[in-house]
Amino acid sequence: MSNITYLSGKRVVLGVGGGIAAYKSVELLRRLIDLGAYVSPVLTSSALRFVGETTFSALASEPARTSLFDDRDPIPHTHLGQNCDLLLIAPATADLIARCATGLADDLLTTTLIATRAPVIMVAAMHSEMWEHASVQANIATLRSRGVIVLEPEVGRLAGGDFGVGRLASVDQVLAAIEQCLAQSGILKGKKVLVTAGGTREAIDPVRYIGNRSSGKQGIAFAKMASQLGAEVVLVTTVAVDSVPNCQIVMVESASEMMDAVMGAFPSADMVVMAAAVADFRPKRISSTKLKKSFGTPEIVLEPTDDILAELGRKKRPDQIVIGFAAETGDPGAEAARKLEDKNADFIVANNVLEPGSGFSTDTNRVTLVGKDSTTEFEIASKTQVADKVLQMATKWACENGIWV
Ligand code: CTP
Repeated sequence: MSNITYLSGKRVVLGVGGGIAAYKSVELLRRLIDLGAYVSPVLTSSALRFVGETTFSALASEPARTSLFDDRDPIPHTHLGQNCDLLLIAPATADLIARCATGLADDLLTTTLIATRAPVIMVAAMHSEMWEHASVQANIATLRSRGVIVLEPEVGRLAGGDFGVGRLASVDQVLAAIEQCLAQSGILKGKKVLVTAGGTREAIDPVRYIGNRSSGKQGIAFAKMASQLGAEVVLVTTVAVDSVPNCQIVMVESASEMMDAVMGAFPSADMVVMAAAVADFRPKRISSTKLKKSFGTPEIVLEPTDDILAELGRKKRPDQIVIGFAAETGDPGAEAARKLEDKNADFIVANNVLEPGSGFSTDTNRVTLVGKDSTTEFEIASKTQVADKVLQMATKWACENGIWV
């Protein structure tokens, strides 16, 4: 299963219109579920002529709904609309597009559309002649002017042996549109987030270095999640990363290179997440040539590195949030509180690296988030979920305390 989690825990209402492409929304539903979404299907009466309610109920997070009036909930449309993160309509037929554009509210799907303030994506599918008709194009223009994202149909084989524009966009295209859409409506939209990841390497000679066990996974998860939540991200990392949307990746090696990169990006950052395991000490002298065995056993004298987090704490403006980490080998809470104070951070994410599922290289983490006025212990969770929760909590705190207006 893919590790993409922009849909993790997101509530999606999947509206299905009455067109032959309705069978493809079964696959779309399955992929949404695989990606961790909570999906509530709503089928129009025409959709039921093409696909079965049972199929959707069997695959979705809850039974499919088909009517405004058969539900145990007397007002399903407002509850569905108010509680969802996304309304996805696939396929959106010419009729459904027209009804949505004119504001008709004569079934559960159209009432949900009017009741929701969540983003709406409509994936159009119909015959070429219908798609090209002026009325359909005018309705689409109306929907777009209201902020609805309309995915246009693809060219290919159509029902009845025809060929042309009209096929439902591929599942991958729909998922890409959802990812982009959720990022644009994300809580970090318009914010710049600076993240560090990985362990620094402090050179001994051109071949050897002093390093640590950090895999960079938690920091990279923060960068990806910040991007998914809508931020513009700068990731300063010692480990290579595939490209991340809206993210500038700066590769560094040593603590001093990381310091330079972080300080360069800091003035324009709204939030910094110092997830990197920065070396506390480095060799005082770096040999310019390889230390040979024949030279005898070397004595490596260490000197302290500069503390990047502490420097950020000294320099930060009132509108900047700084989040540090504390990787401990005992009870992390007390140490986190000390580091929060000493380094003037707003939050410290602390974990016990000796705990199973919580150390370096694992895909999970169990962390305690220590803030100036709160301590929250999280359950063990994927590093992506940890990033999501910490970013959500820090953002909420910044908004509630007037740090971000
Ligand atoms: N950190 C930093 N620069 C350093 C050392 C650490 O910015 N030279 C940051 C880390 O990125 C992390 C936080 O400080 O966000 C705490 O790091 P940690 O290694 O847990 O703590 P130390 O400050 O090294 O303290 P101690 O050795 O007492 O555990």
